[in-house]
Amino acid sequence: EKMGFKHFMLKEIYEQPRAVAMAIQPHIDTDKHEVNLKNLGFDKPVDEVFKSIERIIFVACGTSFYAGNVAQYLIEQVSGIPVQVDIASEFRYRKPIIPKNTLVITISQSGETADTLAAIRMAKEKGALTLSITNVQRSSIDREAHGHLYMNSGVEVGVASTKAFTSTLALANLLALQIAKARGTLSRAQEQEYVKSLLAIPSQIEVVLAFDKYFSEASKKLQDFKGFLYLGRGVSYPIALEGALKLKELAYMHAEGYAAGEMKHGPLALIDARMAIVVVAPTDELIEKTISNLQEAKARGGKIISIGTDENPSLKSMSEYYLSIPATSWMTSPLLSVVPLQLMAYHLADSLGYDVDQPRNLAKSVTVE
Ligand code: M6R
Repeated sequence: EKMGFKHFMLKEIYEQPRAVAMAIQPHIDTDKHEVNLKNLGFDKPVDEVFKSIERIIFVACGTSFYAGNVAQYLIEQVSGIPVQVDIASEFRYRKPIIPKNTLVITISQSGETADTLAAIRMAKEKGALTLSITNVQRSSIDREAHGHLYMNSGVEVGVASTKAFTSTLALANLLALQIAKARGTLSRAQEQEYVKSLLAIPSQIEVVLAFDKYFSEASKKLQDFKGFLYLGRGVSYPIALEGALKLKELAYMHAEGYAAGEMKHGPLALIDARMAIVVVAPTDELIEKTISNLQEAKARGGKIISIGTDENPSLKSMSEYYLSIPATSWMTSPLLSVVPLQLMAYHLADSLGYDVDQPRNLAKSVTVE
């Protein structure tokens, strides 16, 4: 059932345009370009729930945790509601404070991750309203939650999560827009603009998939780096973390994700000619700051691999490898920028001869802590 692909992971990377379309399709009015996130299973209408909450806490593990980090940027900026993101294994043991009118949102592809399940149970005991985002209907976490959202990605076989991540990012966009609408912080025109950029994402992912060939050719050269530092700012920061995780789990190479502004606070010391700096820098209001961080890395010999938007001349001229993603809104850019990072990790691991679908020491679903 690999449909001619060498691995499930590669097939799943290629399924992302459809996975994203399936995730958003039940919740969008494509004629009016409106978000319609209804019937989530709460005992009150969704907008009433979103009007009454005062705080959101995302709880998840691994790649799902990074999706929660992206959601934090989106929801805070468009709806003005405070959002916190927690690693499930930390949240469940630290005796967290859950103020009244808090919505706890768990993200779990499998719906069976032990720590996330324990976290949602604890949140309920403490009186929180809960919403689960899962890919598996009727999974343990889904059954535990008050409200339910589904990734609709189809079965994900590869241990490395890919299409479930992008589907979740699409849902995070919808959540941010619906919460903002309910709270009156989003104009109709803005909503339509964001929905249009979301609807364009599946075909834009198709464009980005062309990097498959690029990385299959570049992977041998990339093997020579002793380490990879992934950098980003804003919504691109969690994408840097996700890119580094993919490389670690698949290619067993040293990779770290950092907020670009943290470079001077330590990681700059790691940089020499054998370090690759992978920067997620689609054109946005922070790009100039990221470029100056890169100049410092380059001055120390670091080799730059960038993900930018279209042809950004200053970014391109300083990069060893420059990959461009199509222009989109800041909210949807993570759905495009993560794809080259998935392909890079895939091809590096494959060229090293590793089992991409079953990386050593890892399980698809972590049902014990
Ligand atoms: O099924 P879940 O989303 O709860 O799984 C969470 C993590 O175990 C998972 O995302 C893990 O980090 C992946 N191997 C990442 O590719």
